[in-house]
Amino acid sequence: MSDILLEARDLTTQLVTKSGTITAIDHVNLRVAAGRTLALVGESGSGKSMTCSSMLGLLPANGRVVKGQVLFKGEDLLKKTPKQMRLIRGRQIGMVLQDAMTSLNPLLTIGEQVGEIFRYHHGITNKAELRRLSIAALEAVRIPAAAERLDSYPFQFSGGMRQRVSIAINVAAAPELLICDEPTTALDVTVQLQILNLLRELQKSRNMTIVFITHDLKLAAQFCDDVAIMYAGRVVERGPIGEVFHRPVHPYTEGLLRAAPSLADLQERLKTIPGTPPSPRAWPQGCRFAPRCALADARCNAQYPNWFGWDEGQRAVACWRTPERLGLQDAPGEPVQAEAELEAVR
Ligand SMILES: Nc1ncnc2c1ncn2[C@@H]1O[C@H](COP(=O)(O)OP(=O)(O)OP(=O)(O)O)[C@@H](O)[C@H]1O
Ligand SMILES: [Mg+2]
Repeated sequence: MSDILLEARDLTTQLVTKSGTITAIDHVNLRVAAGRTLALVGESGSGKSMTCSSMLGLLPANGRVVKGQVLFKGEDLLKKTPKQMRLIRGRQIGMVLQDAMTSLNPLLTIGEQVGEIFRYHHGITNKAELRRLSIAALEAVRIPAAAERLDSYPFQFSGGMRQRVSIAINVAAAPELLICDEPTTALDVTVQLQILNLLRELQKSRNMTIVFITHDLKLAAQFCDDVAIMYAGRVVERGPIGEVFHRPVHPYTEGLLRAAPSLADLQERLKTIPGTPPSPRAWPQGCRFAPRCALADARCNAQYPNWFGWDEGQRAVACWRTPERLGLQDAPGEPVQAEAELEAVR
């Protein structure tokens, strides 16, 4: 199995709101293998963005990680100071957001914003040198006539171009890991593909690892190697994306795939998952999907499922019905609390 570059263990984040404290993500376990692309998939509100902001120390003021570890190259990011995190975010981990308009400063030119990265992270102050590096950075993300565009402001760029600039800024310091939170959702299909191709190109040439948040399963299948499926603040299934999509084990993953228009047989009517996700204000006591699951029994409603893992932990599912869904006779033994103790079912 490839080296793990980033791992979240039992990551749990709470948010203080006017109507009380909510646990937005709860015991999230994730592994991102070096050089691969992990899709983080799940319905709106399932906790995808919150997982990434928790890992990167970018929580809103009302948010706090209350449990867990975030191991990046073996070091726990949650133990770093805000200053150390700022440096890690700039140099080793980049983050591209859905709408580049929110990450770019509308009052500064594109050249000033790209140049700032080289000034801040590499201490370069020579104007001509900054200009040369900025042009190269924009050319690397295929911005035409880069030299002429340096003096433009973000509003003078199209959505796709702004996203390219945002990618240029985030990969300028050659990070090992790039976290993309729905980077193409706001773009039309053609531009979406161009951006994905660009990311793939950059990943190859710079040997980058990518976490790609999306709720587009088809896009995830085309672009990613591995997948982690989130439901109601928890990861419920994960593994190599081809295997998970061809042989989903968690009933939620199965429902999600059946409801995906792009993956379903066009002749067949799409089957939506009945019911709605629970509220973070009142998580069910047992499996959070149980109230919507046709297979749920008394244990599913009473107790949160263990992780069941196989293929040396590459495939893992948090569902009590896993052994029988895999056609195994024996139910596994003792409850497993953490990913680290992942149990092999054979
Ligand atoms: N600033 C905040 N204050 C209070 N609750 C929040 C805040 N941000 C997110 N939440 C809540 O945390 C939970 C997880 O939200 P998150 O943004 O991570 O979902 P998501 O999976 O990224 O959804 P989407 O696909 O819509 O982006 C949700 O219940 C959401 O309502
Ligand atoms: Mg989000």
